[in-house]
Amino acid sequence: MCGIVAYVGNKSAAALLIEGLKRLEYRGYDSAGLAVVRGQDQGIALCRSVGRVSVLEARYAKDAAIYEGQLGVAHTRWATHGKVTEENAHPHIGATRSGHTVALVHNGTIENYATLRKYLEGRGHQFYGQSDTEVLAKLVAELYEPQKNIDLERAVQLALQEVTGAYAIAVICDREAHTLICARKGSPLTIGLADNAYVVASDQSAIVAHTTQVIHLNDYQVARLCAGPSDHGSNEPWSIDFRTTTIDNVTVEQQVTELELDLQQIELAGYPHYMLKEIMEQPEALRTSMTGRLDLREGRVVLGGLTNMSRDLARARKFIITGQGTAYHAALIGEYLMEEMARIPCECEYASEFRYRNPVIEEGTFVVAVSQSGETSDTLEALREARERGAVSLGVVNVVGSTMSRETDAGVYLRVGPEIGVASTKAFLGQLAVLTMMALYVGRRRHLSQQTIGELLTELAAIPDKISQVLKQSEKIQACVEKVVDRNNWLFLGRGYNYPVALEGALKLKELSYIHAEGMPAAEMKHGPIALIDEGMPVVFIATQGNQYDKVISNIEEVKARGGRIIAVATEGDQHIERYCEGDFIFRVPHAAEPLQPLLTTVPLQLLAYHAALQRGHDVDKPRNLAKSVTVE
Ligand code: AGP
Repeated sequence: MCGIVAYVGNKSAAALLIEGLKRLEYRGYDSAGLAVVRGQDQGIALCRSVGRVSVLEARYAKDAAIYEGQLGVAHTRWATHGKVTEENAHPHIGATRSGHTVALVHNGTIENYATLRKYLEGRGHQFYGQSDTEVLAKLVAELYEPQKNIDLERAVQLALQEVTGAYAIAVICDREAHTLICARKGSPLTIGLADNAYVVASDQSAIVAHTTQVIHLNDYQVARLCAGPSDHGSNEPWSIDFRTTTIDNVTVEQQVTELELDLQQIELAGYPHYMLKEIMEQPEALRTSMTGRLDLREGRVVLGGLTNMSRDLARARKFIITGQGTAYHAALIGEYLMEEMARIPCECEYASEFRYRNPVIEEGTFVVAVSQSGETSDTLEALREARERGAVSLGVVNVVGSTMSRETDAGVYLRVGPEIGVASTKAFLGQLAVLTMMALYVGRRRHLSQQTIGELLTELAAIPDKISQVLKQSEKIQACVEKVVDRNNWLFLGRGYNYPVALEGALKLKELSYIHAEGMPAAEMKHGPIALIDEGMPVVFIATQGNQYDKVISNIEEVKARGGRIIAVATEGDQHIERYCEGDFIFRVPHAAEPLQPLLTTVPLQLLAYHAALQRGHDVDKPRNLAKSVTVE
């Protein structure tokens, strides 16, 4: 959703804040802003703009001297409350009764903002915008009374006791020129311990340039970060210290952890877009994801994160796999995998539906949350709901230290490296690889023979090289897109393990090119959607060889008979399909066992969406209206 960056230390804050915003811009990019304390009691300099961070940077650069200071907060917005206007851009401002100024940035939603706003208006606060965040800024300012020992830390604690909703916030006040306050509930926030400074951000990519020593704040926790000139007599010119409390001012100990991320991983490395980089690095990402986890000789999967519950898993009576968006599509394939390989009943459900439908959770149920970010609000809440009802919770997550990874009983990290492009690509393949390994891990403890496992693991280990083969067709796919990119309605059809791939292909095309596309089981087409087929309508078929191949060929014939344009993903060497795709497009993937085919058949669809977005002139890495992680409901 939104991106927060904050800094307190011995360097000039503004330029560091803007650099941090650039690393977070994939989280949201409607508008941006920064606020810097100009010095003790010297007021706060505020700069906000609609549009990308580059617009803010240009505006800041015009009067950079105004924004000189060593304490600041900054924000890049994905609008939830209030239109995309400069007034609603963060940071938001509150005026204290002591004549000082509070500036606050926020990721999340304040649900009771209307009530609080009415109260604050009654106390004389004048509102300039419509956002819920402005209410929080003015609430902190209202509660700030240093003459009664209610300093900024205490005012934030008291304010957060009054709000309901989700928040990750960073707050400054010009009366406390070396103190940064931050807090979280339900939205991510990480604190970096840097040299003579603290850097706070919504995610690690804005911190790793400064330090790899971090603290992950937990829900209902507040951190007070101080960095300023040492008292006279100290031999250190600069001192820093921090403390963390609950919002009830109870001190809590924090553990400093080491980031498993480096700057090189989050750079573009010569690619034009993060999405293309992440598509092209999928072979290597999957190798890394499977390193040390496939024991081909012993015919077994090694998943350290599940060791302590391997016996419970062997006796599991049901799995529920849940997620949103692309993660949901991976979860759907996980359902097929778990039932086929582990022979355990498994159901896949949208997290947003699961959490509200009063689900029945019986003894022996495991809930598996699939999430690249580990911060998706609906998936987190579904996980919490399932745990409340007695399920054992497992995470299939990419971001180390994310909320989901810290709240589940156990889990398996994707280990595909940071995914910056808003459209998920390598993380999806990482989710499929991990879910496959998990299904084999459990199946091995039930009925799968060592030989069967060994054969599947050998095939799985060969997948990265096969993906490299598929990636070589990028130009051919680009040429295909040039011929059909003007069409505004597409269908994606697949069967079995490739039905969720059809869903994923449709989502990729929608979210990147803004073309309307619908994925469904190929058989479903005849139950209505076939009415959509008109002359030249692009219909993408995942038509690899498998137990429903002939039926997919029949579906292709039905579409051809009505003038549809076929784009087929087929198995290398399959000549048979060519007689049904006269004048159409066929992209090839190497042969693979059906459960592993999605790891290959997804790749041409990622490239299809990528090229379609480029040919339609869209921003591939920051599609309109989207954000990388949906941390609000
Ligand atoms: C996928 O391309 C989208 N960006 C979106 O559907 C995403 O998969 C979904 O929001 C779930 O995110 P998560 O994996 O971080 O939970």
